[in-house]
This record gives sequence, structure tokens and C-alpha cells, in this order.
Amino acid sequence: MSPDPYDPERVATLSDPASFRYCSGEELRSFLDPGPGWHVADFGSGTGLFTDELAPAAGTVYAVDVRRGLHAAYRERGMAANVVPVLADFGRLPFPDDHLDGGISVRTYHHGFDDVLEEIARVVRPGGRLVVVDWSATGAGDREGRDSHRYRDVAAVAGELLEAGFRIDDARERRETFVVVARR
Ligand SMILES: C[S@@+](CC[C@H](N)C(=O)[O-])C[C@H]1O[C@@H](n2cnc3c(N)ncnc32)[C@H](O)[C@@H]1O
Repeated sequence: MSPDPYDPERVATLSDPASFRYCSGEELRSFLDPGPGWHVADFGSGTGLFTDELAPAAGTVYAVDVRRGLHAAYRERGMAANVVPVLADFGRLPFPDDHLDGGISVRTYHHGFDDVLEEIARVVRPGGRLVVVDWSATGAGDREGRDSHRYRDVAAVAGELLEAGFRIDDARERRETFVVVARR
């Protein structure tokens, strides 16, 4: 676990609403479709840009991130009362089995989320939903490029989710990103 503060420039980028050009809050809420009492998690929440988009639609939103500095930046920006920051590696989650009704992974699949799908399946209840949105390996290229060698395409991601015990409700390539909506 890294206790270090995050690069301030990176904090500003992660908090920039320009990211909604690629995935909007309305899209995320529609994909996850949370009930008002749902417990959901944002896996790799960063400074909470997308966590904030779920908070008004769910009961509790766990903002899971391994970097303390990003939670601090999120607190400074202002965290809704039903957001619970969780300082943890998403490969070792402090939740009991089947605790979550759903979760999202936005721009984190290429940060090792693909390696922890069994742990995600452990904490999402049967019938619960997982929404994965990330830059696509087949994207047009008008996007962040730092980690482009780690980007995946939708078929690979859907296959890995199936192997981890999820069913696929929806899977599509878009111009720059893929979206997979999976169900445990
Ligand atoms: C590109 S940022 C995306 C942040 C946010 N989801 C967004 O789209 O604004 C990737 C995030 O994943 C977090 N992360 C990377 N590896 C992680 C891990 N193993 N466990 C928890 N968080 C992790 C990073 O700290 C960072 O906040």
C-alpha cells in the first residue's frame, strides 16, 4: 500500500470533469442501475469524480483506493455523507462475502483489476452488477496514452469476467472506451 501523496498534477487531471467526455454519470448510473439502498463500490476511486456520480443514486458508496493521498484530495473536494472511503488494495478487500450489490471499475481495468476478478466476485452478491469502463486497445487514439500497452479490448475483458463467474449483460466497444456490464 502506498501512503504517499499523489502528484498534484495527476490529482487535477483525475478531478477534471473533462473526463465525462468519455463516460458520463448518467451512463454509469444507467449501466449499474442501483437501488436507493444499495451498497456499491467504486474500485480505484481516485479523487471520486465518478464516485460522486453514484452517490445520489445508491445507499452507500465505498470509495476504494490504495492511495491515501487521493482520498485526502477527495475529502478536500467534498465527499457526500453516504460515501465511505476505504483505503485498500482492490485485490484484498475488507468486505465480507456477498457484501456488495454492485460496483464500478472506471479506468482501472488496466491497473491490475483484471488480476483480482475472483476477489471482486467474492464481495459482489449473486445477482449483483459490475460495470467496467476503460480505454480500449482498439480505441481511435484520442485519449490518455501513458499506459496504452496495457489497454484491453472488450472481448478479452468479457472473457475474463466470464471465467471469474460473471455473466455478461452488455458488452460494447465505443470510439475510445469499452463498457462491460456483468452480473454475478
Ligand atoms: C486512472 S485512475 C482512475 C480513477 C477513477 N476511477 C477515475 O476514473 O477518475 C486509477 C486509480 O486506481 C487506483 N488503483 C490502482 N491500483 C489499485 C489497487 N490495486 N487497489 C486499489 N486502487 C488501485 C489508483 O490509485 C487510481 O486512483
